[in-house]
Amino acid sequence: MKRLKQPSPPPERTATRLVTGGRDPLANHGFINPPVYHASTVVYSSAADYLAHRGRYQYGRRGTPTSEALQEALAGLEGDKCAGVALLPSGLAAVSAAFLSVVGAGAHVLVTDSAYLPTRKFCDGLLVRYGIRTTYYDPRIGAGIAALIEPKTRAVFVESPGSLSLEMQDVPAIAAAAHARGALVLMDNTWASPIYFRALEKGVDLSIQSGTKYIGGHSDLMLGTVSANAACWKRLRETVETMGLCVGPDDTYLGLRGVRTMGVRLAQHYASGLKVAHWLAGRPEVARVLHPALETDPGHALWRRDYTGACGLFSVVLKSAPQAATHALLDALTLFGIGASWGGFESLAIPFDCSDMRTATAWAPGGPTVRLHIGLEDVDDLIADLERGFAAFEAAR
Ligand SMILES: Cc1ncc(COP(=O)(O)O)c(C=O)c1O
Repeated sequence: MKRLKQPSPPPERTATRLVTGGRDPLANHGFINPPVYHASTVVYSSAADYLAHRGRYQYGRRGTPTSEALQEALAGLEGDKCAGVALLPSGLAAVSAAFLSVVGAGAHVLVTDSAYLPTRKFCDGLLVRYGIRTTYYDPRIGAGIAALIEPKTRAVFVESPGSLSLEMQDVPAIAAAAHARGALVLMDNTWASPIYFRALEKGVDLSIQSGTKYIGGHSDLMLGTVSANAACWKRLRETVETMGLCVGPDDTYLGLRGVRTMGVRLAQHYASGLKVAHWLAGRPEVARVLHPALETDPGHALWRRDYTGACGLFSVVLKSAPQAATHALLDALTLFGIGASWGGFESLAIPFDCSDMRTATAWAPGGPTVRLHIGLEDVDDLIADLERGFAAFEAAR
């Protein structure tokens, strides 16, 4: 937060940055929050000024004090390696803008087999039309990614952990191998956010978040963000500007408002999620819980080494049962909604099956799979709800 008469404020920790970033009350008549600029045209005081673009702002699409406030707040969370943050109208738009900022015709990209399905569809559809090839790789490949890097490989895309299957990736090892061969690293960091994983500090060049999830936090916003290091910021900014991508002022403001409470919300999602995950691990109906913060998880060592927390999203593998039993479980839940997305204040549960999505690895979890998002309800109420679900599961088995 800028404060007059204090030229060098002390360094701030994350919780403080969440509150202070992108705010300057004294520049806004003392009001705590910046105004929401609904803007397209910006007028100049003279024809000469107009022709010379002499003005802090040029056009609504290219940035307003509101969008700059959100960019500043997010950049502060990423740390010193962040050279800029682009705002996009959705998380998927952030993924596609990040890719388009680093690839050109004839390029090759490596994408984790665990990537969010629409990310794969972007690679298999639009990128193919523009002459860009994708090779999918095992998310657990680590430094072995080196063997897949070709002379034309421009980017390695990671999503850690995968948002359905929760495989952890060795991001620093992948980044070291990619950089050694001239490739950039793009990461979908929505699960941990920079609060629990400072992607740029771990070697990532472009760190993507679906702001729809925890930045918004209230299931009422579509937003995407890409944070870039110095090597990638110029190309990213040019790409976003050239394509005319921008976020409306009210959605930008909702993002900014969400940032202020993101830390405490995430802490609660983390604590409640872990409690439910431990409880589920002890249930007779459950074969495995896919949550990297559990010691039994194959990705736990990487999570412990690199992450400082977890969000409320994880999955469970149920003991073998007909589909009708899994549906009975989900349909019996009253506190968990059945729907896409995650990161809001409310709990969600969906059935999923990655078999048709994988090309580099086989998906054989050994039982039906369900993804849970643990919201901000009382955690014991959520456990009681799941207990009701398991009674319905057993009855239908
Ligand atoms: C991991 C991940 N990345 C990106 C997205 C896309 O975000 P949005 O829905 O904001 O386009 C999602 C949405 O579910 C997601 O789960």
